Amino acid sequence: VTYCIVALSGSVRAGSANTGLVRMAQRLAPPALAIDFYTAIDQLPWYDPDLEPDPPPAVRDFRAAIAPADGVLLASPEYNFGPTGLMKNAVDWATRPFGQGVLKGKIVTVVTSGGKGGGKRGQGFLNDILAMLGNTVVTEPEVAIPLGLERINADGTTSDPEIEAVLGARLAALVAALEAR
Ligand SMILES: Cc1cc2nc3c(=O)[nH]c(=O)nc-3n(C[C@H](O)[C@H](O)[C@H](O)COP(=O)(O)O)c2cc1C
Repeated sequence: VTYCIVALSGSVRAGSANTGLVRMAQRLAPPALAIDFYTAIDQLPWYDPDLEPDPPPAVRDFRAAIAPADGVLLASPEYNFGPTGLMKNAVDWATRPFGQGVLKGKIVTVVTSGGKGGGKRGQGFLNDILAMLGNTVVTEPEVAIPLGLERINADGTTSDPEIEAVLGARLAALVAALEAR
C-alpha cells in the first residue's frame, strides 16, 4: 500500500447505495490504495464555530482520521439537487479552523448514486466546492449511478459489472493523480 484514502458516505440509510459504493471501492482498490471507511460521520454535531476552542470528541476523532490520509473519497446521494446535509456538515468540519482544516491539500474524488439523474447535480456542487477550496478533484470517469439503490447493495456487492468497471477506472485515475502530485 502506497496511499491511504479516507472515505465518507453521505447517507446513513441501512441499505444505502452510496455506502455500497464505498464498500465496493474498498473491494476494488488497486494494491497501491488502502481505503479506510469513516462511518461515524453521523456523530458529528452541526458545525458551530463556538465549538472550535474545545472541539467535542467526535470532531477530534473525525479530524484525526482524515489528517494523515493522502486523499478523500466522498460518496453522497443527491438530496434536493445538492449533496446531503450530512455530507456538507462533514466538509465544513474538515475545512476549519480557517486555513488549517484537515481537507487542505488532499486529493479528493466524489462519486454519487442518486435518483434517475445519478446525483450529477449534487456531485457537481461538491466538485465545485472542493475546487474552490483549492483541492485537486479527480472527476473522471464520471461515477454518477442512476437509481443505484436498485443495483448496489450496502455491502458493496452489485448485479451490474458496469458499475464495478467505472468505479475501478475512477480509482485508477485517483492513484494516477496521487502519483502525479
Ligand atoms: C429528501 C430526498 C431528496 C432527494 N432528492 C433527490 C434529487 O434531487 N435528485 C436525485 O437524483 N435523487 C434524489 N433523491 C433520491 C436519492 O438520491 C436516492 O434515493 C439515493 O439512492 C439515496 O441514497 P442512498 O441509497 O445512499 O441512501 C432524494 C431522496 C431524498 C430522501
